[in-house]
Amino acid sequence: MAESRTIVVTGCSSGIGAYCARALRADGWRVFATVRKTEDMPPLEADGIEALLMDYTQPETISALVKTVAERSGGRIDALFNNGAYGQPGAVEDLPTQALRDQFETNVFGWHELTRQVIPLMRRRGEGRIVQCSSILGLVPYRYRGAYTASKFALEGLSVTLRMELQGSGIHVSLIEPGPIASRFTANALAKIREHIDVENSPHAIEYRRQLARLEGSGPINRHKLGPEAVYAVLTHALNSKKPKPHYPVTTPAKQGMILKRLLPADLFYRLMRWTD
Ligand SMILES: NC(=O)c1ccc[n+]([C@@H]2O[C@H](COP(=O)([O-])OP(=O)(O)OC[C@H]3O[C@@H](n4cnc5c(N)ncnc54)[C@H](OP(=O)(O)O)[C@@H]3O)[C@@H](O)[C@H]2O)c1
Repeated sequence: MAESRTIVVTGCSSGIGAYCARALRADGWRVFATVRKTEDMPPLEADGIEALLMDYTQPETISALVKTVAERSGGRIDALFNNGAYGQPGAVEDLPTQALRDQFETNVFGWHELTRQVIPLMRRRGEGRIVQCSSILGLVPYRYRGAYTASKFALEGLSVTLRMELQGSGIHVSLIEPGPIASRFTANALAKIREHIDVENSPHAIEYRRQLARLEGSGPINRHKLGPEAVYAVLTHALNSKKPKPHYPVTTPAKQGMILKRLLPADLFYRLMRWTD
């Protein structure tokens, strides 16, 4: 029997990571799934997944993860799905610079470190897939999401550059660009706004109150929101296709955003984006 392909998936305590880890396992992959808390390990292990601890803000946990996976798999990592991240909401003028640094530490620098450590293993085998769970906000800006938008724009820049640099190596890099997906993302973002943004003393207080009402569930429901299986559909293409694409938009708003940015004059596009939320 052929040996299972091996994948590392990060951020598997909830949402997209939790779903994709299980779906990959069901599709025959050997899955190493990372979480930050020990209590998040047993539910994954119960489904045949090898759960490991890793926090992108702690470089020693990244090295320990790669070492453990390499030991257990005999150095075989076929694919890496960088997924674990969070969104720091808040107007750019209200963002403490430390909150912006923290956003980059998780969403950009940690992903870069893990990717750098995995590439040599892939190079040795002459093949590999690196899939980055970016966001449509990695391609188009969004009001009150400056920190997150900037982190995903940075991720896009690094990843498409890496894609070009790895051409011919057998290692392929793809970005998934989801729009709204059902997960704990919004609840986690709410905690971050409370932690870092002085809502009531901001010139944007009225807008924050309106958005908080929506995020807390008392506003209109986003009818375009899809489940994490929509992300899995394109992840499987990025992992299995002979020609994995650079960008995989997921959800209607993500597809519309990419098309409108291409077609409209920049000023008109940004004015239009001002009215989305
Ligand atoms: N949901 C959406 O609408 C949406 C849209 C576009 C893109 N995305 C992207 O999709 C990915 C997954 O998000 P999700 O929607 O599934 O949200 P989620 O349910 O909040 O899951 C995020 C995961 O990331 C983990 N994580 C957070 N900080 C981390 C760190 N420092 N180190 C390692 N892991 C960390 C979380 O672990 P803890 O439980 O320990 O916090 C959790 O497992 C993210 O990259 C996000 O940017 C989501």
